[in-house]
Amino acid sequence: MPTPGGPRKITFEASWANLLSLPPRLRNVFRFYTPTELNFARGKLKEAGALIKSTGINRPFIVTDDFLAKSDGFQEFLRVLEAAGLNPATWTQVQPDPPDTSIDQAAEEYRRTGCDGVIGYGGGSSMDTAKGVAIIAAMGGASIREFMPPDARPVTAVAPLVCIPTTSGTGSEVTQFAVVTDTRPNPHVKSGVVSPVLHPRMAIVDPAVTDRMPPKLTASTGMDAFAHAIEAYTSRLENPISDALSLYAIEIIGRHLPRAVYDGSDREARDAMSLAAVIAGISFDNGLVHFGHAIGHALGARYHIPHGTAVAMPIPAGMEFVRPAREEKLTKVAAAMGVKVDTFISPSEAAEAAIDAISRLKADSGIPTLAEATMASPEELRTVAEQAMKDGSTFFNPRPVSAEDYLHILEETMDEGQIGYH
Ligand SMILES: [Fe+2]
Repeated sequence: MPTPGGPRKITFEASWANLLSLPPRLRNVFRFYTPTELNFARGKLKEAGALIKSTGINRPFIVTDDFLAKSDGFQEFLRVLEAAGLNPATWTQVQPDPPDTSIDQAAEEYRRTGCDGVIGYGGGSSMDTAKGVAIIAAMGGASIREFMPPDARPVTAVAPLVCIPTTSGTGSEVTQFAVVTDTRPNPHVKSGVVSPVLHPRMAIVDPAVTDRMPPKLTASTGMDAFAHAIEAYTSRLENPISDALSLYAIEIIGRHLPRAVYDGSDREARDAMSLAAVIAGISFDNGLVHFGHAIGHALGARYHIPHGTAVAMPIPAGMEFVRPAREEKLTKVAAAMGVKVDTFISPSEAAEAAIDAISRLKADSGIPTLAEATMASPEELRTVAEQAMKDGSTFFNPRPVSAEDYLHILEETMDEGQIGYH
């Protein structure tokens, strides 16, 4: 909704600053916003035509990547839309970690094709590209960069937007964020756009679409969802509704992610992971994320590690850092992950058990350690730590954090690879 009195320029951090200045015992004063219409069911994509029509879209601009575009599932999806009388145009050039320039090209194509709404079909990159197109379509402008920091024009309108995730992790189908790679001054910097109007009008989540995800992608995207849940749960913006959602997502993921990785045909596990990804998405949309995504973004940009893998890597060492501020909550994480917490003497021991359980989940899902993924030198780790400090997510860390703290987390994360986790 437009701000009364016209758009105001407000920074990402400042928009939450008032809430954070409340005394701790008033933290149950919060804002929670989740406006996306969610349609969730195995096989739901067969109804996509009628669902999309109900949003008012008649000529959808479908944004996906080249690989997915050739899949049987996507071809069937197109047939469903055509059978419903929709007249779709497709743009199949989505790039991983979508660069601003790629979004601009897609937006130009949107204008050329005369479409009246955007559909993001794919993982986070496809959905975030679709969000970028929807912004330019409604707001005008030559480039998505106009809406990105440092001179971000406030986004007050988007074209009708429907998101259809084909992985179980990103949550972009229910969030107000679009992650975009800024190609301007410092290549491969992840930046983006945040606005409440960026919540898709509708999400269609059909777990059957994820059945063919290969194990590595299942693991990486699943741990992304886990990171969303646990970071939102321990964030400075913690709130009781995000907390409930996060704990439930943590429980589901702990039980089902390794199953989905090792047997992709395990429908129960696939359905559970699709659900957990959406729940974690709604949670972090309101509770935000912190060190895992700050460090993960920096690691991903430097070493081209997939997003979910990169954010998962620092979680155990980072939770050790967070522990003094969130020990009681980590006890609940341990319980959600199946640890019998009543056998522990102190909350400190239970928190330690939660961190062990997270390490096991990561290893059981086949997530490589940082040392396995790259032989980063101590100097490189320092650069990564400094980059992570500049990430917007750092603001939501529950403890004051410095580049030295991030470096320590990264060093511990490297050691994890050397001592081996089981
Ligand atoms: Fe993420």
